[in-house]
Amino acid sequence: MKITLIGFMGAGKTTIGKELAEKLNVPFIDIDKEIEKNLSLPIPEIFEKLGETFFRKTEIETFKAITTRFNNVIVSSGGGMPAFDKNMEILKENSVTIYLKADFETLWSRIKNDSNRPLVKLGKDRVKELFEKRKPFYKRAHMTIDTTGKTPLEIIETIEKKLKEIRKT
Ligand code: S3P
Repeated sequence: MKITLIGFMGAGKTTIGKELAEKLNVPFIDIDKEIEKNLSLPIPEIFEKLGETFFRKTEIETFKAITTRFNNVIVSSGGGMPAFDKNMEILKENSVTIYLKADFETLWSRIKNDSNRPLVKLGKDRVKELFEKRKPFYKRAHMTIDTTGKTPLEIIETIEKKLKEIRKT
């Protein structure tokens, strides 16, 4: 099974993705890390030197390459990826999409001091606008997991339960 975790910056896509992959014994790929590896540049420099439009194109190409290469894989997407062009359709056609939902204040408190996330520099109000704009895209995921007040273990157990339900249908 191919699974893509989506959600805003700070939602826990990488943390949950890694642990879920370990539990299900499948490879885990973080799209941001894959792009950094392929381009030998950290994300902030990709934004700075090559621009966001280039980054967005690279994101979806990287996703397509990963889902072509693997039959079973957990992918952690970048927070903006589902909200561009037809990306949400592409994600859904090629994987089971899981939205890790959290409230904005929780997300902001996790990301506000992170210099590896170039968009954080825009400031809280602009980032909140981005969050609101992206929510309708995230909501189209096959599955939504409310992570509020849940530990990673509880989130993973909830995902596993929902995956079993899907397999039965
Ligand atoms: C972005 C989120 C980041 C990364 C880039 C842009 C966004 O990924 O792709 O900094 O547009 O929200 P994370 O969601 O893993 O932080």
